[in-house]
Amino acid sequence: LFNAVEMAPRDPILGLTEQYNADTNPKKVNLGVGVYYDDNGKLPLLECVQKAEEKMMAAHAARGYLPIDGIAAYDAAVKSLVFGAESEPVKSGRVATVQCIGGTGGLKVGADFLKKLNPAAKVLISDPSWENHRGIFTNAGFTVETYPYYDAEKRGIHFDGMLTALDRAPAGTVVVLHACCHNPTGYDLTEQQWDQVVAVVKARKLVAFLDMAYQGFGQGIAEDGMAVRKFMASGEDFFVSTSFSKSLSLYGERVGALSVLCQDKEEATRVLSQLKIVIRTNYSNPPTHGGQIAATILNTPELRALWEQELGAMRVRIKEMRGAIVEKLKAAGVKRDFSFITQQVGMFSYSGLTKDQMVRLRDEFGVYGIDSGRICVAALNSKNIDYVAASIAKVVQ
Ligand code: LMR
Repeated sequence: LFNAVEMAPRDPILGLTEQYNADTNPKKVNLGVGVYYDDNGKLPLLECVQKAEEKMMAAHAARGYLPIDGIAAYDAAVKSLVFGAESEPVKSGRVATVQCIGGTGGLKVGADFLKKLNPAAKVLISDPSWENHRGIFTNAGFTVETYPYYDAEKRGIHFDGMLTALDRAPAGTVVVLHACCHNPTGYDLTEQQWDQVVAVVKARKLVAFLDMAYQGFGQGIAEDGMAVRKFMASGEDFFVSTSFSKSLSLYGERVGALSVLCQDKEEATRVLSQLKIVIRTNYSNPPTHGGQIAATILNTPELRALWEQELGAMRVRIKEMRGAIVEKLKAAGVKRDFSFITQQVGMFSYSGLTKDQMVRLRDEFGVYGIDSGRICVAALNSKNIDYVAASIAKVVQ
């Protein structure tokens, strides 16, 4: 049966962690996967999460099946966080939200639903994009193409190219957009650029699918919701996948959601019924623990305030590391100007290092980043930054 099964390539991101784990170099640093580590290089268990879990443990709740669309209080909290509790779509009940298995799960449920809805549509992702976008939409049966996004020469966004590509896309094309903290480049659209993107999506009757996996890691929780608010104001239907993997440091709990903004409540009810079929036929219903943690935090004012404070501290530390790596590279004698790293936002920096340099960093120094040159700035700390800077200095000179 399996004679002809070919060996699949290693996942470009998670496969790197496998390689990192097997590396015996005591100085190794994992700047590959998008995970926030504290200044001691430890994965944080947020205090708001600990407190929520204490509350949950004290309740000794039994573990029945959740509804197919997840914990109602969780879905409601996601709606408020993503669209605003007082927003018209939330108040009028025209957002269908389902608890999903991470942001990836949200993308997949949305992709499967879209494939049923409009099987002939094409999907456009940014060039470059999170490596898994292509995989998820391809495996849902779509042809996936790209729109220009990154301009390597000017180190920024190739905005004209992006707009032209969207303007040429046939009606119904699904456009996957990074709502904030673009992964992998770290370059986000400005407010005016978002206005133009929303306008072309509306004019060309495209379907926007916003991936918001990093809310709170750019400028702040509310600030990072700008793209969602702009699409909301456009009056168009759109999709948003969200995740608490990073913002609650709940990576392994797989806590995410898919929200679909519809024209009215009745439409949202029909859409929800279809999303439930996608979920039921994939994994039946979501797990209880992570969703309950997130719901407890978001719906308890003191825990919510504590979370905002802890998320703010993560955001500030990442920004400090951006400034620090630029300084350390200079101090290590690197002539090339890396100050662009401080203009990028979120967990990642598209460092401009070549594949050969990334391979050397890994093989010779145990410093792991993605071959594309993406490094996770959120994994730098005061103890490993000198070593990382010295290693980069050696491969760029
Ligand atoms: C990343 O881009 O590293 C993260 O989103 C983790 C993942 O699942 O790839």
